[in-house]
Amino acid sequence: MKDELVIVLDFGGQYNQLVARRVRECNVYCEIYSYKTNLEKIKAMNPKGIILTGGPNSCYEADSPTYTKELFELGIPVLGLCYGAQLMMHVLGGKVERADVREYGKTEVLIDKTDSAVFAGVSTPTICWMSHFDYISRIAPGFEITAHTADCPVAAAECAEKQLYAIQFHPEVLHTKEGSKMLSNFVLNVCRCSGKWKMDAFVETSIKEIREKVGEGKVLLALSGGVDSSVAAVLLSKAIGDQLTCVFVDHGLLRKNEGDEVEEVFGPNGPYELNFIRVNAQERYYAKLKGVEEPERKRKIIGEEFIRVFEEEAKKIGTVDFLVQGTIYPDVVESGLGGESAVIKSHHNVGGLPDYVDFREIIEPLRDLFKDEVRKVGLELGIPEKLVFRQPFPGPGLGIRIIGEVTAEKVRMVQDADAIYREEMDAAGMDKIVGQYFAALTNMRSVGVMGDERTYDYAIALRAVNTIDFMTAEAAEVPYGVLNKVMSRIINEVKGVNRVMYDLTSKPPGTIEFE
Ligand code: XMP
Repeated sequence: MKDELVIVLDFGGQYNQLVARRVRECNVYCEIYSYKTNLEKIKAMNPKGIILTGGPNSCYEADSPTYTKELFELGIPVLGLCYGAQLMMHVLGGKVERADVREYGKTEVLIDKTDSAVFAGVSTPTICWMSHFDYISRIAPGFEITAHTADCPVAAAECAEKQLYAIQFHPEVLHTKEGSKMLSNFVLNVCRCSGKWKMDAFVETSIKEIREKVGEGKVLLALSGGVDSSVAAVLLSKAIGDQLTCVFVDHGLLRKNEGDEVEEVFGPNGPYELNFIRVNAQERYYAKLKGVEEPERKRKIIGEEFIRVFEEEAKKIGTVDFLVQGTIYPDVVESGLGGESAVIKSHHNVGGLPDYVDFREIIEPLRDLFKDEVRKVGLELGIPEKLVFRQPFPGPGLGIRIIGEVTAEKVRMVQDADAIYREEMDAAGMDKIVGQYFAALTNMRSVGVMGDERTYDYAIALRAVNTIDFMTAEAAEVPYGVLNKVMSRIINEVKGVNRVMYDLTSKPPGTIEFE
């Protein structure tokens, strides 16, 4: 269904990928291009519709991103959002000016034209997300105003005859209650897409593109066993089979049995065609971490050691043509690599590997997808659900769930306690309710009594949090009965532990991990 393409032209807004995602949710294939993409290229792609995103600039300023008037004369439906709406008006003869006050946040929008194609089935008033300084003070000739707010005379405008639609607010964000409806109205009713595209088409297209790009080349991937790198590995394996080598570094800081589980799926006895190299680097890591207590230092050592191990393996393989990274869209945005959008913060997963392995090019097949979309691709590829729905697990692993020095003995304790905790949470159905949960090992030892014996052992901390964006989190309400059972099993079954505590701290002031 790639013949039914909707193009999102990126003008530097923070939500541009969200626009694409909403279009994909309508089962319509969508690609994002920079506003610098020339008109001939756009014509050649023959899109069914074009969406212009928001952006941080003022369209009336000389060096602001713009587009030629001809874009609106192709006979292809165009929807401008925020900056895109202002630009449409500006280019077609309307007027955009700076407002006295910024209109920001959830805003009541009154629909003036209830039979507008984009507002079909939308209530009035409806709550929308506004974020703009500039406003459309005069619409372009041939347009009519279709919605307004108390502060904004033109919240939406259209020229239905030419299928041009301008919306000042952001229908792509969840705060705009009926935004998905508006976008689906545009792609299905105005652009007349059939809405039959599915993730299997993404898989098909990606496989084809990977094959074309790689040819006979050799490809290397660092497999962590996490969702993103696993999905990337299977996608590549389906595309190029044993031209792919996956290096899996077992740093001895994985969850209980995790190394073997990864090997079962990706190793020689698993269902996929690829070269799998498991490096058992446990002892190396423990040696490097000996005596180190400071958390940042631990993170650094674990990261650097990974680079050394991976580099050694890459050298053994010889020339590598392509390096695969399981980068997903949120990584890209956070690193400020998201097309035209502004830098927010640097991220460990993006651009981290390349300088120490000799290779020609990077392949990032999941770069445009959100986490839940990656999971859908994973299911589409037939990857076991257990792996697809894995909880987030940090790169430095249990290294940042053990307070103080990391030793093989402490790793064993936290692995065993964590396995019990996960088992009981799953059995109680809490795995469906709680976002992320794990056991950590405090560095505290205290006196206890077991049988008739005095003990002087470690305390395990149980953590369970709910979070939407990982920037903030709250401790989850785990039923007392479940906690009690976990406590009792840990004390009975995990040697070296005589106390179990539940961590109630939210983030902020705490963090999700325990280091
Ligand atoms: P914090 O502890 O910062 O964690 O509240 C937020 C989320 O990020 C995960 N996390 C990491 N993931 N490498 C990763 O891949 C890391 O170094 C790392 N540190 C934290 C953490 O598990 C949580 O989901």
